[in-house]
Amino acid sequence: MTSVANWASQRRNSVRAGSSQRLTPTVEKNSDSDDDGSASTTSEDHAAFSPVPRDMLATIVILGADGNLSSKKILPTLYSLWRRRLLPRDVLVVGFARQDWTSERFRKHVFKCIYHPSMPQAERKEFQERCHYQSGQFNEPDKFRALLSLMAHEEARRYQERLRAPLFAARVAPTTQVRMYYMAVPPFLYADIARHLRVEAARLTADIDAAAAAAAVGAGAEQTAAAAPAPAGATTNGATAEASPTLAATAALPPPTPLRTEERFVLEKPFGRDTDSCAALLSQLQKQITEEEIYRIDHYLGKELVMNLLVLRFANVCFQGVWDRQHVKAVQVIFKEDFGTAGRGGYFDEYGIIRDVLQNHLLQVLALVAMEQPLSFSAEHIRAEKLKVLHACRPLSTDDVVTGQYAGYLDDPSVENKQSRTETFAAAVLHINNPRWAGVPFVLKAGKALTDSKAEVRVQFHAVPGAVSALASCAANELVIRVQPEELIYWKVNNKVPGLHFEVQQQRMDLLYSSKFFERKLPEAYERLLLEVLAADHSHFVSGEELVASWQIFTPALQALHASRRVPEVYPFGSRGPPSADALAHKYGITKFGGGLTPYVKKEVPPAPPAAHSSPMSVAKKRPSPKPSPKLGPATPPRATATTSTPTSATAVTVPPLPEPAILPVHVGAADAPPPLMPKPSEELPSLRPLDLSGA
Ligand code: BG6
Repeated sequence: MTSVANWASQRRNSVRAGSSQRLTPTVEKNSDSDDDGSASTTSEDHAAFSPVPRDMLATIVILGADGNLSSKKILPTLYSLWRRRLLPRDVLVVGFARQDWTSERFRKHVFKCIYHPSMPQAERKEFQERCHYQSGQFNEPDKFRALLSLMAHEEARRYQERLRAPLFAARVAPTTQVRMYYMAVPPFLYADIARHLRVEAARLTADIDAAAAAAAVGAGAEQTAAAAPAPAGATTNGATAEASPTLAATAALPPPTPLRTEERFVLEKPFGRDTDSCAALLSQLQKQITEEEIYRIDHYLGKELVMNLLVLRFANVCFQGVWDRQHVKAVQVIFKEDFGTAGRGGYFDEYGIIRDVLQNHLLQVLALVAMEQPLSFSAEHIRAEKLKVLHACRPLSTDDVVTGQYAGYLDDPSVENKQSRTETFAAAVLHINNPRWAGVPFVLKAGKALTDSKAEVRVQFHAVPGAVSALASCAANELVIRVQPEELIYWKVNNKVPGLHFEVQQQRMDLLYSSKFFERKLPEAYERLLLEVLAADHSHFVSGEELVASWQIFTPALQALHASRRVPEVYPFGSRGPPSADALAHKYGITKFGGGLTPYVKKEVPPAPPAAHSSPMSVAKKRPSPKPSPKLGPATPPRATATTSTPTSATAVTVPPLPEPAILPVHVGAADAPPPLMPKPSEELPSLRPLDLSGA
């Protein structure tokens, strides 16, 4: 716990050091006693920490506020943070979109997005009142001007209120405000939107300054006039304004404030389709905004267990010592969904799962698993180490990737191209060419319409080298980090079954979050990431360099797959995916992608009682004869050579060709997951015989 606490405090300090927003001398706890009485909190929320000071002046602008992302994710997330007092208390939420709505109408939309019967009505109302709206097309400069003007009016009002508020009387007046622009729009619009915002903001500021200067001159003239006798027929102020078209125009201008504005742009993927399109996007954007102002969201970086990877790895000497090619046989990063495109076929069909999930979410997780210890947990140092891993990754070869498409994908009404070759499943093996990881396959596997929904990292270790014969057939250790659902970390370790007989069985040593941290709700990835944008912390956002390096890994294979017109292998909805994935696994001496490299195999027939002095290890070595199966995928995979390494030597073991696989009763018992939610796919995809590498 101590190291975690230190880590949190180090992060907090680095965030504070990196941020120019210093409205309060210390980061306010959210358990502070607000006198606004605006939102009720639970005891769990009182314990919560937000990296954002409550008195920060923040405006959150959602571009594309009427769309899916905004309605389903951003608005509900903002509301959830708001009601738990994790957002700044005076936050403003401003929507901009094509819909011809007023702010009043937008608030009705917000209501629908955040409605939950269990939430008190008063809280919702408070939040809705903080919401404003400006309609416009994304290519209409005057609409951006109207948006900026609306924001500036509200911000000026907020600033004045802040100065008047008794809570702040004793404090230093704020000098800075933050504007966060959330781009919930397609990426080709990013650069244009940023340009309009910048150009129109500069114009508006110039107009405000000019109006302020004119007002100062006018005030001076008025004072002079007041001293002199009034000419006949002179009118009041209103008449004077009427007479001056310039003043009439400036009457709509927001009043100036002394605040400096910091801008942050939050961008959602996809960041291009390949290296070139990504580079083009980056260079267009760089003309408008700086890298420092950009926050590229990869929401997997905001997931609790993904964030924990750095603590797990670098705060535990037991992991540090075995985190290398000498001990690790394979690393798998797995993403499964038990549903299809779920109405998102229009977007998905353009991209496919390699671009949608492997190139970003899974590769980012891989980088965290494989990187060296950073100099600190600052964004700069974390990103630098991730980048080194990405640069050390060899570009994916088409021989190392299997693609599949679930049966029924083409029937999805949102998939327009009924001949689409878009992959909904991909298993890819990457190689990191550095001294720590050379020779270790890093498997990235993702699929829709599979047996169940799960995301996890599996660090699979070598079989025990030089074990006494009684232990020679033990299953290899495995460390599993379950990102979702049911956050969990477990070790699969070999253990003697208690009793008079000698039996070794693999068991799980569990750290199940819901049983250890039951008093607190795990933050949603988006909740955390939005707060981190406000806190100016880039640690969990993807840098431009990382992005380019990620595309460089996948682009050659994506282009080759496209050029060769490779047809993804069809797999049944709710299955393990295409059988070829198993063949790819065999190439690397792995039975199948997923859990258990050398699982404990239960004999179907109970063994005869052992002779008194023999070693009755109950690990089965004999398998039923393989039966030919017409449903099998590709022909018998080629002979593979696996390498098992010991701390002192590496021995090449020739793995015999795998026979036609038979369905084996694999005892996964205590060490593995409960049965899948979907019907067992074993009829289509037989389990394969585990490779016995223990003879090394
Ligand atoms: C998104 C992908 O980035 O991540 C989706 O575009 C995918 O296709 C989703 O379903 C998965 O996110 P999560 O958090 O539900 O695992």
